[in-house]
Amino acid sequence: MALLLLGAVILLSAAGATTAQDCANATFQGGRTFQTCNSLPVLGASLHWTYNAENGTADIAFRAPQSSSGWVAWGINPSGLSMGGSNVFIASQDSSSGAVSVLTTVLESTSPSLTSRNLSFEVPVTPAAEYVAGVYTIFTTVKLPSNTTAQNTVWQAGPGNTGAISPHPRTGANLQSTRRLDFLSG
Ligand SMILES: *[C@@H]1O[C@H](CO)[C@@H](O)[C@H](O)[C@H]1NC(C)=O
Ligand SMILES: *[C@@H]1O[C@H](CO)[C@@H](O)[C@H](O)[C@H]1NC(C)=O
Ligand SMILES: *[C@@H]1O[C@H](CO)[C@@H](O)[C@H](O)[C@H]1NC(C)=O
Ligand SMILES: *[C@@H]1O[C@H](CO)[C@@H](O)[C@H](O)[C@H]1NC(C)=O
Repeated sequence: MALLLLGAVILLSAAGATTAQDCANATFQGGRTFQTCNSLPVLGASLHWTYNAENGTADIAFRAPQSSSGWVAWGINPSGLSMGGSNVFIASQDSSSGAVSVLTTVLESTSPSLTSRNLSFEVPVTPAAEYVAGVYTIFTTVKLPSNTTAQNTVWQAGPGNTGAISPHPRTGANLQSTRRLDFLSG
């Protein structure tokens, strides 16, 4: 019995280590590197960041798989772990050229207008995104709201192209894609 339990524990730690390595081994275009990463629990996503304590900013790369006719998004919600009030970056592709762009917006409700808007916190560098081998990466820098490292983070994936973003599924993993994250401790 003890041996069986030990075996289970070892298997579990091996799985944990693999997940951690999956995000730790990620490489980024232009030789960009990030100090910390988290493999997120759903949607195959990972978050990579460097927190700059001097000015309370975080340089971020959010990575998630998606089809070329789908979008992915990452954001922070200063008001809670919900959709409404989330300040988000949405990466999508033009349906004809395949050009990848980032929409920056605040979600007014669960039926957002998706109008390009300034966020409730500073975004000192223009966000960018790329789509390589079926995976989106969104690069952004944010001034963490309230100058605090613990934040409500949200992420998502759904169908649609630029200018025609469709709602994400409202079941399963798509309803579990939130996490309270401390950018200092990881
Ligand atoms: C990550 O890198 C380590 C060290 O180089 C290597 O042992 C490991 O197999 C890699 N993991 C993955 C998932 O590529
Ligand atoms: C934000 O936090 C950092 C690190 O704790 C601190 O050095 C800085 O003075 C703070 N800035 C403001 C505007 O509160
Ligand atoms: C914040 O600090 C980092 C690290 O020193 C620096 O690279 C970055 O330019 C600063 N950002 C702003 C908006 O001041
Ligand atoms: C966003 O902020 C910039 C800089 O403060 C400003 O020039 C621009 O008009 C704002 N855009 C919107 C849509 O509010």
